[in-house]
Amino acid sequence: MTRTIRLVHRWLAPVFLVLLIAVLSTQGSAVGLTLQRVQQLLMLGFALSGAVMFAQPYWLKWRRGQRRAAEGEPRRAAGR
Ligand code: HEM
Repeated sequence: MTRTIRLVHRWLAPVFLVLLIAVLSTQGSAVGLTLQRVQQLLMLGFALSGAVMFAQPYWLKWRRGQRRAAEGEPRRAAGR
């Protein structure tokens, strides 16, 4: 699942760059305004997928800790 999210995030990047150039070159026109809206939505996509990717390692670490606690394994000392 996170792999798919990473792929989506990756392929949004070139789309974003092309859109950025389009937005800059149509500034002030009606088309420019529409493109800006599209860009804002794309940015939302980036922010959401980026947030998932950012949180994933912490989430996995937390889940591992939960599993270890449930299995009764002793916690590892910090730094080891
Ligand atoms: C709110 C906006 C954004 C957030 C929160 C965000 C967050 C992230 C995070 C957390 C990663 C994973 C880094 C890692 O592997 O540890 C990532 C990867 C990446 N981001 Fe973003 N990002 C944002 C916007 C953008 C934009 C605007 C671009 C390019 C136009 C971009 C391009 C990429 C690319 C190419 C990767 C590597 C993906 C891969 O591993 O294939 N991101 N981003």
